Amino acid sequence: MHLFTLLTLLPLAAATAIPQSPPSYQQPSAPALDSVLIFDPPSNYTVPRTLYARTLLLKKTNTLLATWENYGPNNNTFPYFPIYESTDGGVNWSERTKVYDQVNGWGLRYQPFLYELEEDIGDYAAGTILLAGSSIPDDLSETQLELYASTDGGYEFTFVSHVARGGVALPNNGETPVWEPFLLTYNHELIYYYSDQRDPAHGQKLVHQVSSDLLAWGPIVDDVAYPTYDWRPGMTTVSLLPNGSYFLTYEFYGAVEEAFAVYYRLSEDPTKFDDAGDGSVIRAGDGTFPVGSPYNVWVPSGGENGTIVVSCGTEGDVWVSGDLAETWERVATPEKTSYTRSLLVEGGGGTVLIVGAGVLNGEENNVTASTIDVGGL
Ligand SMILES: *[C@@H]1O[C@H](CO)[C@@H](O)[C@H](O)[C@H]1NC(C)=O
Ligand SMILES: *[C@@H]1O[C@H](CO)[C@@H](O)[C@H](O)[C@H]1NC(C)=O
Ligand SMILES: *[C@@H]1O[C@H](CO)[C@@H](O)[C@H](O)[C@H]1NC(C)=O
Ligand SMILES: *[C@@H]1O[C@H](CO)[C@@H](O)[C@H](O)[C@H]1NC(C)=O
Ligand SMILES: *[C@@H]1O[C@H](CO)[C@@H](O)[C@H](O)[C@H]1NC(C)=O
Ligand SMILES: *[C@@H]1O[C@H](CO)[C@@H](O)[C@H](O)[C@H]1NC(C)=O
Repeated sequence: MHLFTLLTLLPLAAATAIPQSPPSYQQPSAPALDSVLIFDPPSNYTVPRTLYARTLLLKKTNTLLATWENYGPNNNTFPYFPIYESTDGGVNWSERTKVYDQVNGWGLRYQPFLYELEEDIGDYAAGTILLAGSSIPDDLSETQLELYASTDGGYEFTFVSHVARGGVALPNNGETPVWEPFLLTYNHELIYYYSDQRDPAHGQKLVHQVSSDLLAWGPIVDDVAYPTYDWRPGMTTVSLLPNGSYFLTYEFYGAVEEAFAVYYRLSEDPTKFDDAGDGSVIRAGDGTFPVGSPYNVWVPSGGENGTIVVSCGTEGDVWVSGDLAETWERVATPEKTSYTRSLLVEGGGGTVLIVGAGVLNGEENNVTASTIDVGGL
């Protein structure tokens, strides 16, 4: 090799040894939060006042959004999903908009979920904010899982499509509601996961439908369905792990450990969890396991595998794994126990935002936010 060639190659070789440059925009580091109040419902609200919080980070503007089941005055007639915002990492919150039912005359009542499209799907561009949730009339006689979209960054939302329709909004075996949506993009299509009581062979099972345009939805596909009728899996959330597996958590009424113990499944294809075995309980080294209404995220911090964090509905603590779900550790958080708290990975990478909106039948529920620093665990 000529000396000239060697010299011109050297800087290239040196460059590849330099650690990867940071992303083109830097997120400010997220402030530590300890039970910051997002919303304190007025006394004329209907018990449980607030429940079931969900959050979204708009990365480009570092804006946090939060929504929840909002049980307003007058027996919660024609409820809406509130959208609150924080532009300072969750320290101060204010109302951005209210999202009303635009098609059924029933209200947007249960189980909101916020999601940002990371790529174009159909006529909806990357950056579109999606809102899933259940439209239910005052007498709770029907459940209708919907999709709304905002193309102005989460100020104005417009109805997009009906996804699944079910019966009476009661979680009893033999009733036929649909519940608890969760959204994920895979193979340039949107997956709409939900809990389904309509199949007479299952008290409840977990399913999904897929769309390539957000308008037409494909067939109902099982994700978790046990042969025993009253073994009810519930509340799908899914994260992508760094080794290419998708991680699904669910509460499992029927678990040998305890009713509603939190189980997980791993699959390289997030449309094929039904083929991923019977599931395993999440159990810490101290023998404890989360119970009820789980939520999970994967955090790119805390070691070579990053960290999986799982919240549940019966403890303030979370369960974390640094080895891709093989072993678990229980970790305290400042955030109160809430029915189905949401988790969100903040811009800095190691901070997880936990938002809770209170407990089932709670008479003093409010919406609060706390953080844990996963890098520091
Ligand atoms: C409920 O209370 C709030 C705050 O006090 C008040 O602004 C609102 O008008 C009340 N709504 C009804 C329907 O009474
Ligand atoms: C709320 O519902 C209860 C029970 O049906 C009823 O007695 C009460 O009058 C209702 N209140 C309002 C403000 O509509
Ligand atoms: C944000 O919250 C802090 C702490 O509660 C408070 O001191 C400050 O005034 C708030 N800022 C705004 C713009 O509301
Ligand atoms: C990812 O890691 C988990 C835990 O070791 C393992 O069960 C799973 O099969 C792995 N996935 C892939 C795609 O290798
Ligand atoms: C990363 O995950 C793999 C697969 O579960 C495991 O073998 C390894 O020990 C983990 N690394 C750390 C630092 O925990
Ligand atoms: C929120 O509600 C919880 C439970 O009722 C209560 O302990 C807490 O003090 C409330 N937080 C704020 C900031 O009001």
